[in-house]
Amino acid sequence: MNIVVTGGAGFIGSNFIFHMLKTHKDYRIICFDKLTYAGNLSTLSKVMENPQFAFIRGDICDRKAVDELFQKEHPDIIVNFAAESHVDRSIEQPDIFLQTNVMGTVVLMDACRKYGITRYHQVSTDEVYGDLPLDRPDMLFTEQTPLHTSSPYSASKASADLMVMAYHRTYGLPVSISRCSNNYGPYHFPEKLIPLMIVNALHDKPLPVYGEGLNVRDWLYVEDHCKAIDMILHGQCNGEVYNIGGHNEMKNIDIVKLICKHLGKSEDLITYVTDRKGHDLRYAIDPSKITRDLGWCPETKFEDGIKKTIQWYLEHQEWWRDIISGEYQNYYKKMYENR
Ligand code: NAD
Ligand code: DAU
Repeated sequence: MNIVVTGGAGFIGSNFIFHMLKTHKDYRIICFDKLTYAGNLSTLSKVMENPQFAFIRGDICDRKAVDELFQKEHPDIIVNFAAESHVDRSIEQPDIFLQTNVMGTVVLMDACRKYGITRYHQVSTDEVYGDLPLDRPDMLFTEQTPLHTSSPYSASKASADLMVMAYHRTYGLPVSISRCSNNYGPYHFPEKLIPLMIVNALHDKPLPVYGEGLNVRDWLYVEDHCKAIDMILHGQCNGEVYNIGGHNEMKNIDIVKLICKHLGKSEDLITYVTDRKGHDLRYAIDPSKITRDLGWCPETKFEDGIKKTIQWYLEHQEWWRDIISGEYQNYYKKMYENR
């Protein structure tokens, strides 16, 4: 089995590659990644010498490069993680989100049609459903919840999902889609809430909480997400959409306070800053379909996962120090200075 993992030098894609190489030792895994600011070759260093693994640098929007990939590697399955993934960046510069997230998906699926595959899997997000009210804990996103997006990021991901279902119905392309809630764990880029707060706290820098910090996210340890995708690839899931989430809703402010507690830092570092434009209030996934159909359940409890994650950042300082020493500084200034 040859599996192409696009975006495998990023956060979830790299964790997925590690999971697949560990659990399916006879599979060949090919990572195809453009190495944008979010992609890091050092993340993949521990598998670079594995004979079952190959890395190819390339852009999913580049038809020629994607054609060459298919001609050389003859993939059976494509798992598309490649995307612009940060909501705040999409508010500043929407066009690259349309290009990568929508056009890139179309280019990959065109190649799938041309060369033939057994499955194209699209890694989507719960953000395609928009948000839920804070005062209705009974309301959850199901696969039937209408797409109702807020940010340029979520609009681009929903557009891609619609194209995936269009290719399935129109051309009979074998596809599946997973819509997961917020992930956390190792190799998470420090522009996102949890790693940003860990890194700032370790520097005794202000912890910038948007608005009042009351927005709710539904956190899932990244390995549980990877296991769910593995199950979808191996199940009778052609044409199916699966929500993935661990019933672990938390307010942003509570997460930041927990990080302060674990690192022994004062909550005085918390600084309330201007809210994100169009900020989604609450995400909450109903994962009962994937549990019922495939037997998937989250295995890592949040209290264990967050400890493991903080420990990972403490033990892998060279990984994130390298990232924050470069262009990240300009990004940080632009987004947070005078906010
Ligand atoms: P990330 O930003 O950490 O990584 C994205 C990767 O894609 C990087 O390695 C980058 O170099 C690569 N990439 C970007 N543009 C590319 C292009 N044109 N061609 C090839 N490679 C390109 O993202 P992530 O957080 O790991 O998210 C991965 C996927 O999962 C995304 O599709 C995202 O929408 C989805 N998702 C993320 C979360 C989350 O909590 N992080 C939750 C649900 C779904
Ligand atoms: O729900 C899945 C989505 O989760 C994925 O599709 C996205 O790719 C991923 O980035 C994530 O989106 P969020 O916008 O929820 O994640 P982020 O870490 O950017 O923010 C989480 C919450 O924390 C959100 O309510 C905004 C808030 N926040 C974020 C940052 C970076 C802050 O208060 N301060 C910050 O500095």
